[in-house]
Amino acid sequence: MMKVCYKSIRRALKRIAMTALLAWEWLESGVTFDLSSDAVRADPYATYERLRRKDPVHYSRLAGGWVLTRYEDAQAVLLDHHRFSNMQARSDYGQDASMLDLDPPDHTRLRSLVSKAFTPRTVAQQEPRVQQIVDELLEAAGEQDHLDLIEVLAFPLPVIVIAEMIGVPTEDLEQFKEWSNAIVLSLEPARSDEQVRRFRRASEELYEYFEGIIAQRREAPKDDLISALLEAEDEGDKLSHLELLATLELLLVAGNETTRNLIGNGMLALLRNPHEMERLREDPSLLDTAIDELLRYDSPVQLDGRHLLEDVEIGGKQLWAGAQVVAAVGAANRDPAAFSNPEKLDVGREERSHISFGRGIHFCLGAPLALLEARIAFATILKKFSSIRLSAEPEYRPQVVLRGVEALWVQVEWAAELAPSAAVETHTVERDGSLLDIPSE
Ligand code: HEM
Repeated sequence: MMKVCYKSIRRALKRIAMTALLAWEWLESGVTFDLSSDAVRADPYATYERLRRKDPVHYSRLAGGWVLTRYEDAQAVLLDHHRFSNMQARSDYGQDASMLDLDPPDHTRLRSLVSKAFTPRTVAQQEPRVQQIVDELLEAAGEQDHLDLIEVLAFPLPVIVIAEMIGVPTEDLEQFKEWSNAIVLSLEPARSDEQVRRFRRASEELYEYFEGIIAQRREAPKDDLISALLEAEDEGDKLSHLELLATLELLLVAGNETTRNLIGNGMLALLRNPHEMERLREDPSLLDTAIDELLRYDSPVQLDGRHLLEDVEIGGKQLWAGAQVVAAVGAANRDPAAFSNPEKLDVGREERSHISFGRGIHFCLGAPLALLEARIAFATILKKFSSIRLSAEPEYRPQVVLRGVEALWVQVEWAAELAPSAAVETHTVERDGSLLDIPSE
């Protein structure tokens, strides 16, 4: 009883403090940066538009940092690692830093150890396997005509692909999902004590889990990323053991929720713009521009943080060394100064310079892999389902940095020749010395 009482007093005090900060912010600039309500989470773009118009270099009292909503400013911050640093105080997490939280030269050293595995050419070799996984996942949905695309495809696909590349067993999918969900909370600007406890615990458990697999690979190396990184660790000064664990954690987590959200947000955008979906169905050569447009239109990563190493002036405002700076990727991607008619989804859009994969030295290492998975996922969905409609308004997940829906329920009609229910039962017979599959009676 006392505990409940204490908790509700704390919650009430927190709400009062938040309201006071927002009021202060509004008095200073006539606008606020607050993505916490369900309505704003469902559509943050009106908030971004207001910020960009009224105060594009905005000091958010609530987030405790500068929020940049113009394309030009956001891009400039991401490109300038000399003044805008990614270095995080990882002691906060009790773990060592991954490349994402480091500046050169450590960033360069860690990134170069894995970059070969993610070049477009290496990733292209995965194409048949990714297609097979997508086919199997959709076929496993059986004869259902009502399904959650997140559960059936968008969640498992990136986890299976990266787990196989790293060399961890995919049977542990559900466990990865839990760890991954908890660890990505570390990216959120406002974290409750409970969330901090959750991601620390998840990170510790994941490290322990990796230790087990590392021990196996030491005994018997395989053709996977863990074995390749172990070789680098053994060479001495290239990679410490903690860096090895941090790299594995980053690779396992970075591509899951982001790629899931590209498929989820992208399908949702197409479902809400059926003309664009039909355009794509009729002209599959638009697939690559369409995926860039889906990344621009509703970016899986909405905010990208840095901290400032020296005083700078941006848009007539003085930003001081040590301040937090947020490049609002989702806002920049809808800046009318960079994209014509930015609120419109246009699968044939020629302006493809979105910043959804970041910019500069931290540009998404997994971009070629994410694009391959998305291309195969969208193409296969359009091929396998002759019709697809949204069957329930989706709810957004609570995070504000990684934007995506909890579930995406759709009503589908399977294309006749591909419908699992229409699949012809066959049996194998021997004819003229060859084995043939022929339809059963
Ligand atoms: C649609 C899917 C994805 C999106 C939107 C996305 C977005 C991003 C962004 C914005 C960054 C830059 C962060 C910064 O500037 O600090 C980043 C970095 C990174 N991403 Fe992705 N990502 C996606 C998929 C993937 C995948 C599949 C992987 C595979 C392992 C991956 C691995 C990484 C890594 C390792 C980094 C850190 C790079 C560095 O610090 O040099 N990402 N990603």
